[in-house]
Parts: sequence; C-alpha cells; structure tokens
Amino acid sequence: MSQSNLAAVRGMNDVLPAAIGAWQHLERNARELFAAYGFEELRVPLVEQTTLFKRSIGEFTDIVEKEMFTFTEADGESLTLRPEATAGIARAAITNGLLRGARLKLWTSGPMFRHERPQHGRYRQFYQIDVEALGFAGPDIDIELIAMTARLWRLLGISRVQLKLNSLGTPESRRVYREKLVEYFTQHAAALDADSQRRLSGNPLRILDSKHPAMQAVIGGAPLLSAYLDAESREHFDALCATLTAMGIDYVVDPRLVRGLDYYSRTVFEWVTDALGSQNAICSGGRYDGLISQLGGEATPAIGFAMGVERVVELLQQTGQAFSRPSPDVYVLASGERAMRAGLALVERLRDELPAVVFEMNQGGGNFKAQFRRADRSGARLALILGENELERGAAALKPLRLDAAQAECTLAELPARIPAILDTL
Ligand code: HAM
Repeated sequence: MSQSNLAAVRGMNDVLPAAIGAWQHLERNARELFAAYGFEELRVPLVEQTTLFKRSIGEFTDIVEKEMFTFTEADGESLTLRPEATAGIARAAITNGLLRGARLKLWTSGPMFRHERPQHGRYRQFYQIDVEALGFAGPDIDIELIAMTARLWRLLGISRVQLKLNSLGTPESRRVYREKLVEYFTQHAAALDADSQRRLSGNPLRILDSKHPAMQAVIGGAPLLSAYLDAESREHFDALCATLTAMGIDYVVDPRLVRGLDYYSRTVFEWVTDALGSQNAICSGGRYDGLISQLGGEATPAIGFAMGVERVVELLQQTGQAFSRPSPDVYVLASGERAMRAGLALVERLRDELPAVVFEMNQGGGNFKAQFRRADRSGARLALILGENELERGAAALKPLRLDAAQAECTLAELPARIPAILDTL
C-alpha cells in the first residue's frame, strides 16, 4: 500500500499525544464529578442491532434515515455502529434486569459513529461523555443534572456557554401540536424546502430546526409547542425554570428547541457556545420517559445528556490552560552497556521503593553530553548518573538539573533516602 492510499477514513480523527492532556483533563474532571454526584460508570457495546436505533431514535430522524453505519451479518442480521449511547444503555438496563423499580445513575463514554458531512466540529467518529438517570420522574433530577454540567464548565474554566431549555410535553400533547403544525406548514407548503416537504409527513417538528434562511419567516410564524403543553408538563417545566433561577443558573427558554432524536418528552436542553462556529452544541439531552417501556422494559421515567468531547476539548484548549505531560522528577543517565543494564535493574528497585517519584531512564545510549541534553529537555529536576566505575564501587552521583549545583556521590543503598530528600529542596 503506498502512503498516499494510507489516509485515515474521512471524518475520523487521530487524537495525538499533543492533544491528549486536554482530553484526559476533561475525562478526569467528568469522572470525579459524576462519582461525587453518585453516578456509576457502565460500558455498552459499540455495535447493536439496527432495530434498536430505529425503534428508539426514530425512523424519520436524520440519524436513522441517512447517518448510520450499518452492515449485514452472514445470517442476515442487520447491525449498526452506535450513533449515540442512550439507546444502548436503555437496552442494557432492560436485558440485564437492572430496572425492577430501581433508580440508576449511570454514565459512559466512548466513540459514536454518524455518517454526517464532516466539517469543523462535526465528525463521523466522535466521542461522547454520556450521563443517564433512570427511574426518576423529576424535575429535581433534571435540575441536578443541569447543575452538574454547569459545575463541570466552571471546573474546566469554560465560560462562553449558554443553556437553552424547552419542554416537549407528553406524546399526547405533542400529537395535538403536531396536527396544528402540519396544518400550518401545509398551508405554507410552497415556502418549504425539499427536506422540510419530506419531513411534513414523517417528522414535522424537525422543520422548526431548519437552518435554511429562506424558511425562517415561515418558521417564525408557526404555532408554538408551549401553547399546547399539558398541565403536568407545564408544572414540571415551571418548577425546573423557577429552581434554576433561584439557584442562579442562567438559561434561556427556546420554544423552537426540538432536538433531533424522537425519544424525548418534557424537558430538553442544550448547552451552546459562540466560540466554535456553526457546530455550537457542546452538550445536549433531555427526558425520555416513554423510551424504556416502548422498548419492552417496565415503564421508567428517565433523563440524560451527552457532551461532544471534541467540542468541549476545543473550548478547553481555547482557555489557554496547559495540559502537557508532567515532567519526570529524576532522569537517569548511564554510560556504557554494563552501567545501562545495571541501571535498568536499579531504577526498577527505586520505582518499587519510591512509588511517588517519577523516573525516566535514558534510552537509546549516547555519551553523557547527549544524555544531559535529553535530561534537560525532559524537564526533570534531578539527574541520577550511573558510571561503570562508580557502580563497581556500589556508588552513583546525583546532580540537581535546574540550578548550578555540584554533582554529589552517594552509595546505592543511600539512594532511596537521598533522592526524596534532595527533591524536597528543589
Ligand atoms: P445529540 O444531540 O445527538 O444527543 O448529541 C449530543 C452531543 O454530541 C452534541 O451536543 C454534540 O456536542 C455531540 N455531537 C453530536 N454529533 C456530533 C458529530 N457528528 N461530531 C461531533 N460531535 C457531535 C444524543 O446523542 C443523545 N443521546 C443525548 C442524550 C443522552 N439524551 C438523553 N440522554
């Protein structure tokens, strides 16, 4: 295979070591925060039966209609690379018998796959960190999830974000609204683009999401879902908004926020930013009270969200914080093959005895001058120098690297005490 044929698949990216610090920083903060709020990690497969996504995300959504990576097994079974995690988690809760009236607070993370047109912030393989709370009717859990995400942005130092909220009501109230919407858009059919014409029969709510400039006027005149909300959904939404206000969490109610997946009911939300261009949603989710029973599990109210890791990482990088690999504490230099071999064994013993100290052993040989250059570049504070003659005498030398201090010899037996003592002074 020539190198020109060796390109990565379109829309699928490598995450290189230079970027990994920011990824790990986000992952570590999220993991610790979720644990502090009582969420447990679970991991579900990357591949599920295609029918799972059709039944949960919905037949008439962009994801199911045109974005799934689907393949057929030899026995004819249709499988799909997961485009999102909620369906798989709902499936896992049912098939593992986790529900039975239980309350589950779960999170997962990993790659998702959508055959979208790649652009900045939109990829065909992308990562999500996904949180789901099953068995809670809310609105208290809705509020806690939102407060937890707001806290995550604060912890990460991300400030250019805004929370958008809406309520989609119950399926019944939405049915009434849907009829009104179809009536309205049918009257204005001539103003609809081809995509919206198609959605008119399958998924008319998605017309509201259209970004087509020529359609904004007709969308602006469409009836609003909020006018058709059932009383309980209204109460749920009012309690959510009032509590967020009391807690000082800013939001805007966006009556046109409808989301691209069909399983939602009542609360939906999206954190957006003006710092990333057109792919501005960094974290989105909502309630899906009907999904689990629809998939054959016992009726279980639920809510969750997922954040797009690439997008949050980009915001993190914009903050200017440094996420580079920490430097080693001690760089170990050895001249000659015998000293190198002895050095490897010695450093393994020191790692056993001093687990808090990070050692980097010089690799790839080189004279002392070259090794000292590498030691300087490594950022280590202390050099441990192993010369053949010294080793034969059972000795080694220590030299502070970032100040003008002399090299001092000590016995190998003294090293476990001397190294931390010197590091403490540097
Ligand atoms: P979603 O809005 O489709 O919701 O995706 C959630 C987040 O994933 C988006 O806000 C965005 O940050 C990121 N994202 C989506 N597609 C892409 C892409 N092609 N490239 C990069 N990032 C992307 C869901 O997936 C729901 N499962 C969320 C949820 C969980 N609802 C309830 N529980």
